[in-house]
Amino acid sequence: MSKVLVVYWSGTGNTEAMANAVADGAKSAGAEVNLIDVDSTKASEIADYDAVAFGCPAMGDEVLEEASFEPYFADAEALISGKPVVLFGSWGWGEGKYLEDWKSRTEATGAKLVGAFVTQDAPDDEAVEECKKLGASLANA
Ligand SMILES: Cc1cc2nc3c(=O)[nH]c(=O)nc-3n(C[C@H](O)[C@H](O)[C@H](O)COP(=O)(O)O)c2cc1C
Repeated sequence: MSKVLVVYWSGTGNTEAMANAVADGAKSAGAEVNLIDVDSTKASEIADYDAVAFGCPAMGDEVLEEASFEPYFADAEALISGKPVVLFGSWGWGEGKYLEDWKSRTEATGAKLVGAFVTQDAPDDEAVEECKKLGASLANA
């Protein structure tokens, strides 16, 4: 059984709802899943997992949330080479542009980017399904 970490930051709950769906998808695919708020973990704990789902909304001006998630992800970049990874999150008005930089950063680490999905505001039923599929793909990677 693969061990999957789903780690996220969410200010108003949209990315948290996506994280729940990603975790559900990974569990349905047979993974052991730890779903955790970024403020309750440290990047060094990534070593305990086979695969990681990172969730963060667009904040600032098309960047990752700067107080908690950005420092966490900056540390994580040195620890995910070779690991299957997915990215997800919510945006409000920028059409998800922040994801392009995030994907490039992730690919530059040598991680295996299995997939990425971002949606506007709260995830609707279709977006929840996409998140579940993302979690399942990660568990099967
Ligand atoms: C301080 C702040 C900065 C934001 N910056 C952006 C942005 O640059 N681009 C964008 O598309 N949305 C931006 N948003 C909107 C959020 O990405 C959007 O509301 C998202 O759904 C929040 O997700 P959450 O509920 O997981 O916190 C910003 C929101 C806040 C509060």
